[in-house]
Amino acid sequence: MAKLYINTAIKKGHLNPELQGHFSEHLGRGIYEGIYVGEDSPIENVNGMRKDVVDALKEIHVPALRWPGGCFADEYHWMDGIGPKNTRKKMINTHWGGVVEDNSFGTHEFMELCRQLGCKTYVNGNVGSGTVQEMSEWVEYMTFDGVSPMADLRKANGQAEPWKVDYFGVGNENWGCGGNMLPEQYGMMYRRYQTYVRNYHPDHPIKKVACGSNAGDFEWTRKVLETTFRRTNPKDHGMMDGLSLHYYTVPKGWGEEGKGSALKFDDSDWYTTLGKTWYMEELVSRHSAIMDVFDPEKKIGLIVDEWGDWFDVEPGTNPGFLYQQNTIRDALVAGINLNIFNNHCDRVKMANIAQMVNVLQSVLLTDGARMVKTPTWYAFYLYQKHQDADLCESDLDTEMIGDPSHPVPNMTKSVSITKDGKLLITMTNESLTEDYPVEAVLTGGKAVRVSGSILTGEMHAHNTFENPDAVHCVPFTGASVTDTGIRFTMPHCSVLALEVELA
Ligand code: AHR
Repeated sequence: MAKLYINTAIKKGHLNPELQGHFSEHLGRGIYEGIYVGEDSPIENVNGMRKDVVDALKEIHVPALRWPGGCFADEYHWMDGIGPKNTRKKMINTHWGGVVEDNSFGTHEFMELCRQLGCKTYVNGNVGSGTVQEMSEWVEYMTFDGVSPMADLRKANGQAEPWKVDYFGVGNENWGCGGNMLPEQYGMMYRRYQTYVRNYHPDHPIKKVACGSNAGDFEWTRKVLETTFRRTNPKDHGMMDGLSLHYYTVPKGWGEEGKGSALKFDDSDWYTTLGKTWYMEELVSRHSAIMDVFDPEKKIGLIVDEWGDWFDVEPGTNPGFLYQQNTIRDALVAGINLNIFNNHCDRVKMANIAQMVNVLQSVLLTDGARMVKTPTWYAFYLYQKHQDADLCESDLDTEMIGDPSHPVPNMTKSVSITKDGKLLITMTNESLTEDYPVEAVLTGGKAVRVSGSILTGEMHAHNTFENPDAVHCVPFTGASVTDTGIRFTMPHCSVLALEVELA
């Protein structure tokens, strides 16, 4: 019997809703078709946004959305995407699939999407191929509420009120597609560019996010912080609110032989994928440790603004569109990552799955007028009440299983007290065969009632347009209240959410 000790009286930190954030880039059918179909589309839409998609995203309370990239961000010139649609520039999206980008989805459309979703806005600026002036004017266009050339232009384009920009990314992957820079070089650029990301709303300051590392490039983190954040120099304080981290789970690696299929995989691929996902725990811990040296007060958040599975594209689809199916394995990947982010909420302030619709590890897939919720959508559904909750002290007996070169714990968990005062336990069971009995022992509160919801199935189970409801959550009735807490058996291949009412 595995013991899960929970102390409801010890709060380890606040779970920012943004830990369940999303990312959507001008890539493949992510935005066009997947979200934005235009006002004249036969697909039901509100101001051009697909109603089915927006409704499904609202069900999981998308808290924040990052846009327009990704690599696309460092080639994006925002003025191409404003004004009357018939005058917007048409161009080739050289980075992703060589298709025509007609700029019909631009700043106004992004803000409209976030309004419909009720989510925070995370805009990613262009450092790689853009100027300081261009970035500064974009911020002025979006947020200035007075008389100025950019505010006047926004008004002339139909938006009288300024919008709120919650987060602004100063470049993306500037170690790679965003300019192939060295860390010191980027650090210097960051100091300059961020100066002109002005805060026009003192009561709603923009949080500035610097480009962080690619996976385990700890040198990048250290050198960028050395260049941008000299703790003893007051001038450096306030330059940065977040430092990003990108890490993808790629089962077979980035080599020519392929990354691995989303649907065709065996037991060994299952464990390797989950083991490689668990590497996120080490990445977050080690990048946080470096940040602690520079910023022991933890004022700068680690922003994991790209994470998720990256498989080979589905056969027959455009290789540049990164379209992949999504199985129970993806739900486990999501559940493990979301538990990791929760457990590191002292440092991790936002995380954004890549990407929201039709690209990489999506929560939704579309085909013409049809839409399916993926197993990953259900993982977010199960975890959503962690948003704005307080993380509790907890400890679970686990053992490492799977591929010895990429081991994974047999179970992961995170535990919080939700806004409505309940205990929320989210867990994953990585084993393909073993169900684990768990005895949860509570200190600081007494369990009165327990209910739950579970996502489980054969590892390849997934939803298709022909069979859209093959995978979904069902009530979990296997948990019972004991004198000291609760008891349940955690089924193999599953993601579970338990809500416990406390006395
Ligand atoms: O999410 C796809 C791509 O992955 C992004 O454009 C880039 O930032 C990363 O390399």
